[in-house]
Amino acid sequence: MGAWRLPCGWRLLFSMCFIGLLAEVVHGAGADALHPRLFPAEARTLRRIAAKIGVAHWNFSVNPCDSESMKCDCSFYNNTTCHVTGIFLKEMNFTSQLPPDFADLPCLLQLDLSRSLFHGAVPDKWAQMRLQGLRISDLRGSGSAFPDLSAMQSMKTLVLRNCSISGSIPSYFGDMKNLKHLDLSFNKLTGKIPDSFAKMGSVDYIYLTGNSLTGNIPEWLLRRNNIADISFNNFTMGSSGPTQCLQGGINLVESYSPEMISLNNINPCLKKNFPCAASNGQYRSSLHINCGDKEAIVNGVKYETDTVPKGASVLYVNPGSNWAFSSTGNFMDNNINDDSYIATSTSKLTIPSSQLYARARLSPLSLTYYGLCMHNGSYTVKLHFAEIVFTNDSTYCSLGKRKFNVFIQGKMVLEDFDIEQSAAGSGKPIMKTFTTYVTNHTLEIHFYWAGRGTTGIPYRGFYGPLISAISVVPNFQIPLAAKLPQTGSRISSKALLIGTPILAICIAFVVGLYWIKQRRKSSMHQDLGALDLQIGSFTLRQIKAATRNFDPANKIGEGGFGSVYKGLLSDGTIIAVKQLSSKSKQGNREFVNEIGMISALQHPNLVRLYGCCTEGNQLLLVYEYMEHNCLARALFVEQYRLRLDWPTRHKICLGIARGIAYLHEESAIRIVHRDIKASNILLDKDLDAKISDFGLAKLNEDGHTHISTKVAGTMLVSYMRGELSWSW
Ligand SMILES: *[C@@H]1O[C@H](CO)[C@@H](O)[C@H](O)[C@H]1NC(C)=O
Ligand SMILES: *[C@@H]1O[C@H](CO)[C@@H](O)[C@H](O)[C@H]1NC(C)=O
Ligand SMILES: *[C@@H]1O[C@H](CO)[C@@H](O)[C@H](O)[C@H]1NC(C)=O
Ligand SMILES: *[C@@H]1O[C@H](CO)[C@@H](O)[C@H](O)[C@H]1NC(C)=O
Ligand SMILES: *[C@@H]1O[C@H](CO)[C@@H](O)[C@H](O)[C@H]1NC(C)=O
Ligand SMILES: *[C@@H]1O[C@H](CO)[C@@H](O)[C@H](O)[C@H]1NC(C)=O
Ligand SMILES: *[C@@H]1O[C@H](CO)[C@@H](O)[C@H](O)[C@H]1NC(C)=O
Ligand SMILES: *[C@@H]1O[C@H](CO)[C@@H](O)[C@H](O)[C@H]1NC(C)=O
Ligand SMILES: *[C@@H]1O[C@H](CO)[C@@H](O)[C@H](O)[C@H]1NC(C)=O
Repeated sequence: MGAWRLPCGWRLLFSMCFIGLLAEVVHGAGADALHPRLFPAEARTLRRIAAKIGVAHWNFSVNPCDSESMKCDCSFYNNTTCHVTGIFLKEMNFTSQLPPDFADLPCLLQLDLSRSLFHGAVPDKWAQMRLQGLRISDLRGSGSAFPDLSAMQSMKTLVLRNCSISGSIPSYFGDMKNLKHLDLSFNKLTGKIPDSFAKMGSVDYIYLTGNSLTGNIPEWLLRRNNIADISFNNFTMGSSGPTQCLQGGINLVESYSPEMISLNNINPCLKKNFPCAASNGQYRSSLHINCGDKEAIVNGVKYETDTVPKGASVLYVNPGSNWAFSSTGNFMDNNINDDSYIATSTSKLTIPSSQLYARARLSPLSLTYYGLCMHNGSYTVKLHFAEIVFTNDSTYCSLGKRKFNVFIQGKMVLEDFDIEQSAAGSGKPIMKTFTTYVTNHTLEIHFYWAGRGTTGIPYRGFYGPLISAISVVPNFQIPLAAKLPQTGSRISSKALLIGTPILAICIAFVVGLYWIKQRRKSSMHQDLGALDLQIGSFTLRQIKAATRNFDPANKIGEGGFGSVYKGLLSDGTIIAVKQLSSKSKQGNREFVNEIGMISALQHPNLVRLYGCCTEGNQLLLVYEYMEHNCLARALFVEQYRLRLDWPTRHKICLGIARGIAYLHEESAIRIVHRDIKASNILLDKDLDAKISDFGLAKLNEDGHTHISTKVAGTMLVSYMRGELSWSW
């Protein structure tokens, strides 16, 4: 009740007293508390609107308030008279302009035209309204400046998406105390984000995606706790602009202007078109993603896992850095706090390759998949869809309709695509095939919800693009030299042929280095420089950029020989950098050991060493990053404790055993680890165990026993710390 008083003001009182009395004379008959009538002036306005835009379903011979698309407050005159408070037009093909007449409904608080097609611009007359919610999207037409909404001080939800609005964002939004949701995405907005926006700390969602906003990215925005998506803009870096994409609710993908493309210290994710950097000439030529689901192998093809549950404002780069997705938008009108960005099939699918379709990624607004560092050339893109939310039966769920648009490399390939219609039924797969060209090593597949279809079936907030799987294959011969090295456990005979001499050289190096060290300790850094040739060599600058100059916030652990930092290389690869304290004499020897051994050893259950850095007096090892840190943390540290079920524990045990077995028996150089403990067992994203820290390992010459005589007595005790045996 309190809500409508504010906007209605004296005008309402006036109309109630005079026109209202008149109305009761004219329409009075039949209006009672059980059958209230619409206030006559409003009924006339609605008739006018209905005629202009072509709404047929408002029945004026009864109370149009009974329509689903209208909300009224019928408490006036002892519950006999209604005022319109909300209008929610469903999917309609209006070819008309937005009618100014909505401004003649004095108590209108909510106006949702986001799912209907309109043309033109927001009428000037609307400036006199006192709306709390306004939603318009995908307005066709030549565009307009920002409409005047300054009087709508109690605005809570404002959506003006893809309305061709140009010019700058007015600053008064910063003063709207009730604002919770501001979506100005996909317009032509220019200029800076107004300073007053710094006051919008309690606004849950800010979407400025897909504009041409300029200036520096404001500091307060980067520190926000709530969602802010400013991806796809023309910002400049300035003196303190971000050089990395952020974790959390701030999406910065492609937010910098094209001029920033040549700056090397900026992560490519921030640059236009997400270019491929530092790929060392190694490009990929295919891509297979099982969107919204775990890894699956279908017809011999491995579809990569994509199970990140977030999506309101997020950039996710997969651990192999060969693909990424950016997701924008939250599901509106649902009361669920946790929007679900992954749909799960309600019934068991009995279709071929059902692993691809059982779960799918959903997006309420915009979703962009990137194929990163791909060869230039022609590709066949296959998009796999199946409607798994709506059903084809006699239930309410069958009334749901999903429609969305798909763009590949910026070109629209599907408009108002309806999976169910296209596949002739729900739960049935449909594959759409397109040919596209990658001209600058990045492939972009964009899904966009243009407001079509239903939004409330089976529950509120079920709509938007749904994608089950993506596969991209080249239409050309893959250049041989650029094939990626196998990362699997099976070493091909070819690899052995090449690998054995390298291994021999490695051993020679390590042994040689050890020998040199004994004699000339000072020349160590030069020798390590030579070793770099065998494995990846990183510059100190690269590593400083990746770890933000060893930012304490990036520290993920403290090993026996120094700290471990998380870092992001400019090509998007996430790494772990172990900084060996150069003071420790022992550390230096360990350094040599680690490089020599780990570079020679590759196994799914051993942590992979990407390379090292020996600049200055720094001794740095660059490892693959392990999402779940170490087993000790997963078991014993309260705030990081993982719930490991028995199958997972079993898997971890097997992994450790396989790793050790490889070290002991399968590898060319036999190694005794000597420091197996929970903090040396790292867990990757799938909770597979990998053994790390070969710092104490020593070469174990062929023919000798695995257990060195010196520690034989305590070996059983010291080889494996207690926690591995008793804690689980
Ligand atoms: C309007 O409602 C009346 C009474 O229920 C009904 O007879 C009439 O057919 C309806 N008109 C339209 C256009 O739906
Ligand atoms: C309001 O309506 C009730 C019955 O619905 C009636 O008893 C009462 O007198 C009415 N009051 C006024 C002020 O009209
Ligand atoms: C109007 O209706 C509501 C509920 O429908 C009731 O609580 C209220 O007392 C009614 N007011 C009058 C004046 O009859
Ligand atoms: C709108 O137009 C499209 C094609 O122009 C048509 O498929 C659709 O059924 C129309 N929708 C309505 C509600 O008229
Ligand atoms: C915005 O709407 C226009 C039609 O007016 C459409 O062509 C364009 O694709 C839409 N933008 C997006 C991001 O879908
Ligand atoms: C923003 O960047 C686009 C290219 O991504 C460019 O076409 C456009 O002119 C830029 N706009 C402004 C205002 O700088
Ligand atoms: C939905 O199921 C009914 C039978 O239950 C069938 O007649 C109809 O063709 C199906 N529709 C689609 C689109 O599969
Ligand atoms: C291919 O890649 C290079 C960069 O490696 C780029 O300069 C070139 O424009 C790309 N496009 C084509 C069509 O070759
Ligand atoms: C391709 O990307 C490189 C940098 O990665 C950039 O310098 C070049 O301008 C891009 N070319 C096109 C055609 O976008």
